[in-house]
Amino acid sequence: MPSGKRGRFAVGTPILDAARTLGVYVESVCGGRATCGRCQIEIQEGNFAKHKIVSSADHISPPGPKEQRYDRVRGLPEGRRLSCSATIQGDLVVDVPQDTVINAQVIRKAATDRVIERNSPIQLCYVEVEQPDMHAPLGDLDRLKATLEADWGWKDMLVAPYLLPQLQKIMRARPQGDLEVSEGKWGVTAVVHRDMDSSRPFITALYPGLKNEAYGIACDIGSTTIAMHLVSLLSGRIVASAGTPNPQIRFGEDVMSRVSYVMMNPDGQEAMTKAVRGAVNDLIGKVCAEGGINRGDIFDSVFVANPIMHHLFLGIDPTELGQAPFALAVSGSMQFWAHEIGIEISPGARLYTLPCIAGHVGADAAGATLSEGPYRQDRMMLLVDVGTNAEIVLGNRNRVVAASSPTGPAFEGAEISSGQRAAPGAIERVRIDPQTLESRYRVIGVEQWSDEPGFEEAALATGVTGICGSAIIEVVAEMFLTGIISEDGVVDGSLAARSPRILQNGRTFSYLLREGVDGGPRITVTQNDVRAIQLAKAALYAGIKLLMEKQGVTTVDTIRFAGAFGSFIDPKYAMTLGIIPDCELHEVKAVGNAAGTGALMALLNRDHRREIEAEVRRIEKIETALEPGFQQLFIDAMALPNKVDAFPHLAGEVTLPPRKVLENAGGEGGGRRRGREGRRGRGDSVGG
Ligand code: FES
Repeated sequence: MPSGKRGRFAVGTPILDAARTLGVYVESVCGGRATCGRCQIEIQEGNFAKHKIVSSADHISPPGPKEQRYDRVRGLPEGRRLSCSATIQGDLVVDVPQDTVINAQVIRKAATDRVIERNSPIQLCYVEVEQPDMHAPLGDLDRLKATLEADWGWKDMLVAPYLLPQLQKIMRARPQGDLEVSEGKWGVTAVVHRDMDSSRPFITALYPGLKNEAYGIACDIGSTTIAMHLVSLLSGRIVASAGTPNPQIRFGEDVMSRVSYVMMNPDGQEAMTKAVRGAVNDLIGKVCAEGGINRGDIFDSVFVANPIMHHLFLGIDPTELGQAPFALAVSGSMQFWAHEIGIEISPGARLYTLPCIAGHVGADAAGATLSEGPYRQDRMMLLVDVGTNAEIVLGNRNRVVAASSPTGPAFEGAEISSGQRAAPGAIERVRIDPQTLESRYRVIGVEQWSDEPGFEEAALATGVTGICGSAIIEVVAEMFLTGIISEDGVVDGSLAARSPRILQNGRTFSYLLREGVDGGPRITVTQNDVRAIQLAKAALYAGIKLLMEKQGVTTVDTIRFAGAFGSFIDPKYAMTLGIIPDCELHEVKAVGNAAGTGALMALLNRDHRREIEAEVRRIEKIETALEPGFQQLFIDAMALPNKVDAFPHLAGEVTLPPRKVLENAGGEGGGRRRGREGRRGRGDSVGG
């Protein structure tokens, strides 16, 4: 368990061997010498009617001298046994814990609840190599390889060239600690990588004695934030997680401005490549410090990124991604030595990047797809990662399609008059009374709602400074539900007679959310703000709808929001605005940094690398700009929630207002000025 695999074995078979025979992965570093403690298992006792067996602790051999010694020296947790030593004596239900922790002090927290079955490309293999002999002319490396083949089955091994000059010193070094090495032998641990481009296993590092821990990093390079997990490759536990702003922001806020920077500055690409690699190295320092480990103990790394970040990280000029046909220099997965691109981890560490899906849909979307697995199920899943360029994946077991849509930064609070990032002082929740049109809201860093006693006093500490992305969605949706804006998004000026909250600005109107108190800003939602949200949501919805048409469906079964955006918005409001199609509300879920989780899966299990490589080849890429139907879908999606599409599930949850068509739809600056042409022009030149 938990694999559920079962089999029959002769009495006396070591449990580790039985597991191997069944194809169940149980870690082992010492090769069954009962010194590494990695092969721990637990016996479940009881009558298992389902399996038709009675499992008992009496059906496993009692601890022998080696296991007793391990327990004495290192300590075995209650109920745990070493599967290399314990043998089968009768019917057993065996639990293989997925988190066998040896150095408990370095384990801080789990960033993801998911148990990822481990099958890391990295394996640590302890061997005892014969010391040299005048009569046996085989070299030290050759004897090491021969022993690795004899004990571990590795054939035809290659060795990382940097190791050769150090090899003899390492093999002759006295191992630290109390490891007992057989007379006339040297005990060394080889770090073996078994997922290189060549099918031959590779010795990527070598240590005297028993090396009992190996780490990897999974990293998501976003346009604004770089996020990283440091993981034990032997236990699968996340040792530390951290994030840092992407320093490329100083070259341009969004990916398009960074491509422009490259086009206009001869050394722009090198400067940005250097900046992102520097930030990755700093972040490695941070997670290592947090986990109390040495960066030299990191032997594998997996990266995901949007196409432009992916190219810049790999040192590739992204100019081609800034213009049609958005050609990627490379779309497939890549792997090489991490030090080749200046990543400061073990000199024998590898670096793997997930494949990109298309010129607009990157390795980050591939990571999210691997994490959420629309292709592993029958239900129609919509997976959306909202950023300045939304990446959209829709499908199920039969077929998966993907596209991107240029939503722009409005959902993140940019382009909104009172917009700000989510920080103390930002309004994060909004409710509007349908009768009085008065609002109540919540501010980040303040416990009370704005209409509760003590709010103003508490808000003195943070101020009330603006509206963050989640609240922009809520306030515009509430304005729609209370009739302040029409289905075309026009603020109804006639309500000014009824409520002082409706303010006139020339030809248009705005909604007053908060009067400036004590010198704080006056916070309003203007006609232009509503327009910006409409344009963003229309671009996203039109992209989604196009994919639904490709799939021949009018509804989706389940919706996953990847990224920070989805973590804070209320699905009800997202649907009220028609950001996403109709769906049962409880089927709309935020999945956080799914791209990072996908990277983690690929780090811990090489089968996941093959899985996503094959799946990306199968995904159909749709270029929204080339689809004749996109324009009409976009226009329909400008309406709230949509001009033509029904939202029956939503209608069961909220009372959608009766249709109200108002004049003056242009907004004070002419809201349609950046209609589809403008958006697409921007998006087409953006890429991922
Ligand atoms: S395999 Fe190392 S202790 Fe069992």
